[in-house]
Amino acid sequence: MSYPKPSRRSWAEPWKIKMVEPIRMTTLPERQKFLIEAGYNTFLLRSEDVYIDLLTDSGTSAMSDRQWAGIMLGDEAYAGSRNFYNLWEAVTQYYGYKYLVPTHQGRAAEHILSRIMIHPGDVIPGNMYFTTTRLHQELAGGTFVDVIIDEAHDPANPHPFKGNVDLAKLQRVIDRAGPGKIPYVSIAGTVNMAGGQPQSMENMCAVRELCQAHDIPVVLDATRAVENAYFIQQREPGYEAKKVAEILKEYCSYTDTCTMSAKKDTLVNIGGWLATNDQGLFEEARNLVVVYEGLHTYGGLAGRDMEAMARGIAESVEDDHIRTRIGQVEYLGNHLADWGIPIVQPIGGHAVFLDAKAYYPHIPQSQYPAQALAGDIYTDSGVRTMERGAVSAGRDAKTGEEHFPKLELVRLTIPRRVYTQAHMDVVAESVLEVYERREHARGLRMVYEPKYLRFFQARFERAS
Ligand SMILES: Cc1ncc(COP(=O)(O)O)c(C=O)c1O
Repeated sequence: MSYPKPSRRSWAEPWKIKMVEPIRMTTLPERQKFLIEAGYNTFLLRSEDVYIDLLTDSGTSAMSDRQWAGIMLGDEAYAGSRNFYNLWEAVTQYYGYKYLVPTHQGRAAEHILSRIMIHPGDVIPGNMYFTTTRLHQELAGGTFVDVIIDEAHDPANPHPFKGNVDLAKLQRVIDRAGPGKIPYVSIAGTVNMAGGQPQSMENMCAVRELCQAHDIPVVLDATRAVENAYFIQQREPGYEAKKVAEILKEYCSYTDTCTMSAKKDTLVNIGGWLATNDQGLFEEARNLVVVYEGLHTYGGLAGRDMEAMARGIAESVEDDHIRTRIGQVEYLGNHLADWGIPIVQPIGGHAVFLDAKAYYPHIPQSQYPAQALAGDIYTDSGVRTMERGAVSAGRDAKTGEEHFPKLELVRLTIPRRVYTQAHMDVVAESVLEVYERREHARGLRMVYEPKYLRFFQARFERAS
């Protein structure tokens, strides 16, 4: 038998599998029952009832043998653990910040930063909200204002840097509020809620310049800044020959401070930090961390967790790693796009986002089409995804009205180094199957709504 010559050279992951975790397929009647028991909220499913878990890329990575070896080198001293110093060194080496305060995860860093920097009545402009970030800003008495470019709100727009700040919008917010009322500008590297979309280096520089002119600090949510650096390498003229590590350091150099959920880029199951070049902020943060997290040399983590993070940072910026990580996301996204399934374009860094408004046009946003679609995919195949639309957007902190964002999305989030291409094929086929039955889909009504971050625990029933 002869095979046709391939017209391209394939890529493959720069690792091989040393240990596996069995997963179990359930039956259709079982999944129908589990989803009703979970109130149509995929966060409330038990993980053992899930076949392929694309709920999130947060804390779901597979660690390397070097990271696991680091776990055994945990120095579990209460104070001054050697792993803390290794982590500090890695953050300074790869992200460039002078000072480090470890936290147990990203929102703990956001909490500490918001308590220190935000005063009641302040305004915080940013390139689209993120759920926990905005909530901590609001709890500290601030108001978030979205200054992302308009293209970010259009799922079909192919702009290569949909995470960019609209500088005219930012200038208007500064003029209206006055620089004294803006404690910082909040920038996310690859914007989660926009579909994992990057910001260009040129735009980051321009934001820096504008902020410097008004003496306003820039705070980076560095959670997926490595993925952002990869997109700069791939899409921005002048960066194609640079290493991702070099681009990351330059990107961070235009900011004063960062908060970090190390559960994503950094390839660990738990961890985060607040890092800064501002000595005054550092002193305050390391004082406050002892109130909410733990001593300033462990911040809610074990020594072993900090060691795994330090090693994960170095692995995360390797070009071979990041190319295949994002290559896998693109593999899934291209499959779906080729079949005509509406997804956010360009394909994002950590996930493929289905455009639920285009997928289920007959379901009004008040009946949460993205929430319904995530449930329908689970019922079809046991693949767990999550809603990123009206349920995640929540309510206006002042009026209590529900937000109905332009983007009503389902996120198929790919954990790092966990699933194979065959898993991606199974996922794609399930999404297609559900798409083909779309006229029969029905919306949901919310029957239980928690006060904060409602998407995690809300419950639903089928709308009549
Ligand atoms: C962009 C972004 N910022 C902050 C966070 C919060 O981090 P954590 O979940 O570690 O508290 C997340 C988590 O999903 C995120 O995606």
